[in-house]
Amino acid sequence: ARAVLTAFRGEILSVVRDPRDDPAAVRYEPDGLLVVEDGVVVARGPHDALVARFAGVPAERLGGLIVPGFVDAHVHYPQLDRIASHGEQLLDWLERHIFPAEQAFADRAHADAVAAAFLDELLRHGTTSALVFATVHEGSVDALFEAALARDMRIVSGKVLMDLGPQGLRDTPETARGDSEALIARWRGRGRLGYAVTPRFALTSSDAQMAAAGDLLAAHPDVLLHTHLAENPRECAAVAARFPDAADYLDVYDRFGLVNARSVFAHGCHLTDRSCARLAATGAGIATCPSSNLFLGSGFLDLAQADRFGVALALGSDVGAGTGLSMLHTAGLAYQAALARDVRLDPFRALYWATAGGAAMLHLSDRIGALEPGQEADFVVLDDAATPLMARRTRGATLAERLFALQILGDDRAIRATYLRGRRAGSFT
Ligand code: GUN
Ligand code: ZN
Repeated sequence: ARAVLTAFRGEILSVVRDPRDDPAAVRYEPDGLLVVEDGVVVARGPHDALVARFAGVPAERLGGLIVPGFVDAHVHYPQLDRIASHGEQLLDWLERHIFPAEQAFADRAHADAVAAAFLDELLRHGTTSALVFATVHEGSVDALFEAALARDMRIVSGKVLMDLGPQGLRDTPETARGDSEALIARWRGRGRLGYAVTPRFALTSSDAQMAAAGDLLAAHPDVLLHTHLAENPRECAAVAARFPDAADYLDVYDRFGLVNARSVFAHGCHLTDRSCARLAATGAGIATCPSSNLFLGSGFLDLAQADRFGVALALGSDVGAGTGLSMLHTAGLAYQAALARDVRLDPFRALYWATAGGAAMLHLSDRIGALEPGQEADFVVLDDAATPLMARRTRGATLAERLFALQILGDDRAIRATYLRGRRAGSFT
């Protein structure tokens, strides 16, 4: 088949590495050209430098700031319809609001309907890739993967392991192993999907089940490990009570072989220095979820501590505990969570977390995250004048000021369009 070349002209920004380590990681063309062949970026740079080479390729002009499609490094699709549930911190919120909602995913038709709505909402918010919790039900993963395949989205997910969960939402070490193996076999290599072994958290898995999770990781070097870590003080106290011999919360997972470079831990609000050193040494990452942490009164990531040890970081909405699917909104709250501890989060670093940093944590840096040649052309067109107030605030502003305003003031209203592999997604405007 003949290759299909398309090009997009506009203002292009990406952050290919953590700018804290490398200020040259910010790539910016005020008048750029992005050339896409069969969904993959083949060239990207200043329009004037590339236009002669691609003279025959029609360029679509995009008004707005083109950035890589957002990566949500931690979100729960079955909790979509329980966002904004009032009145409880983590453990009571799970019991009262979340576990009843997740029981409904035993019904495949319900899972299909929510998966479709969830993915359409991600696209509407500019999120093209995500690491997603499903439920304990095998069919909840099939529903999400089928819907993601139909939309050509990059989704990593897995069946939740929770043999100590509530009545009606419990598996066993054996079914956890068998269902996970079946899902891995059924979905491996299809579309842009990936699998994550997903024990809910230390409190909902027996020792035998956590050992089974370790076995799954050892048997399948291409899958991720996705779980929660040190989110809420009462949760941390319960983990310490159940595992008196563990050095700390992370050590519980470590003892079952669950801590390595392919591990993604959500939250990490209450980490020991030892845990941070261990995360950095293994290459395991923290998906920080500031809107969730504020909503559930959990605390916040200690960014200065994480940076002292060089812990890899990315950004998660953690909906339904999170208060929105927008990674702009989430980045704005990450700034505020850091400032509460007197640390200034740079807006380019926040953009890195929401794009290439998330891609790195999902081991997808070769595919997505920075609109570099060879990567898939997943991108978003941002409107920094999406509201009258945003227009006032960004008029005549520097790039850094505009990006910061997008994070503090922006949300889905600032998403003008979302593109998957060079093709416009959905029909929303
Ligand atoms: N810890 C265990 N399960 C959950 C969950 O569903 N949401 C959050 N935020 N934390 C958890
Ligand atoms: Zn979560």
